[in-house]
Amino acid sequence: MKTTTLGAHGPEVGVIGLGCMGMTHAYDLSAPRDDTTSISVIHQALDLGVTLIDTADVYGPHTNEDLVGRALTGGHRDRAVLATKVGLTSAGEDGLVRNGRPEHVRESIDASLRRLQTDHVDLYQLHRVDPDVPIEETWGAMAETVTAGKARRIGLSEVTVEEIKRAQAVHPVTSVQSELSLWTRDALAEVLPYCVEQGIGFLPFSPLGRGFLAGRFSSFDDLPQEDFRRNLPRFQQDALRANLAIAGRVRELAEQAGVSAAQVALAWVLRQGRYVVPIPGTKTPKYLADNAGAAGVTLTDEQMAALDALPAPEGGRY
Ligand SMILES: NC(=O)c1ccc[n+]([C@@H]2O[C@H](COP(=O)([O-])OP(=O)(O)OC[C@H]3O[C@@H](n4cnc5c(N)ncnc54)[C@H](OP(=O)(O)O)[C@@H]3O)[C@@H](O)[C@H]2O)c1
Repeated sequence: MKTTTLGAHGPEVGVIGLGCMGMTHAYDLSAPRDDTTSISVIHQALDLGVTLIDTADVYGPHTNEDLVGRALTGGHRDRAVLATKVGLTSAGEDGLVRNGRPEHVRESIDASLRRLQTDHVDLYQLHRVDPDVPIEETWGAMAETVTAGKARRIGLSEVTVEEIKRAQAVHPVTSVQSELSLWTRDALAEVLPYCVEQGIGFLPFSPLGRGFLAGRFSSFDDLPQEDFRRNLPRFQQDALRANLAIAGRVRELAEQAGVSAAQVALAWVLRQGRYVVPIPGTKTPKYLADNAGAAGVTLTDEQMAALDALPAPEGGRY
């Protein structure tokens, strides 16, 4: 696996990471959970050099960190660059609530470390900025976790350049996590260029368009019964039908190149910057192997141009 570093000053990581969310949260909830396979996928990732392992306290809530913690016992912890998040809490049927209060950060890091069965995380990320708390206060509490040795580095998620600058004035920002894929390119306008300029790592989430760009869904009915994607505008029947042209073009280019659609989608993301480390999510061994293989796929300028020229999708991302 090719490697880079987590931002200009962070530890070495494989250029492809692993998002663990879907192992216990948001997707495919009608199917019985298969923790044994999920744990084997995490081990397979580490064996293949997919070292950046991403989770969050709100996934489940808590079940995802529990699972990752179990996977990393028995000598695996040191092979991983372990990233979790704080700042979103589950509010039952009302959905997710932002909480950036310093005391919430202070309590949450200890709870995350307990669930993850470790004395530190390598990256502690603020999941969302809380509009009711100045980012300087939240980020100050995040910085305390570094001083206390509980987090090696801290990162942001879904932020503006202005918010990154305000955080940087308090403590260095190692990484920014945001949605980036062939059908979600907002970050290319300002946030990613600023991260590139500053040597801040950029971790694209949902780089496979939540599975759509990998060719998983041809109609709304293909989505599992209990699945967050059923609520998203892009996956509604009419929008999805229109968006099949995008997935179809990705598949066509993949066939011409002799690689998979997922590999094309990830290879395009990898070309967006030196410290860009996508974190495709999977609980399936064959997909993990496929995604890891994207590290070895280099797209030609013509292929990049064809992908750059894909139309914008129908429907918002949330
Ligand atoms: N910061 C944030 O706010 C935020 C938001 C969303 C996600 N995330 C992070 O980003 C990670 C990845 O995002 P995501 O899971 O939403 O979307 P994604 O990585 O774009 O797609 C995941 C979906 O694609 C399927 N898949 C994965 N590899 C495949 C392949 N090679 N071929 C065919 N299908 C494939 C997965 O199937 P199976 O699962 O069935 O294997 C799953 O349904 C998450 O796990 C999470 O850690 C962060």
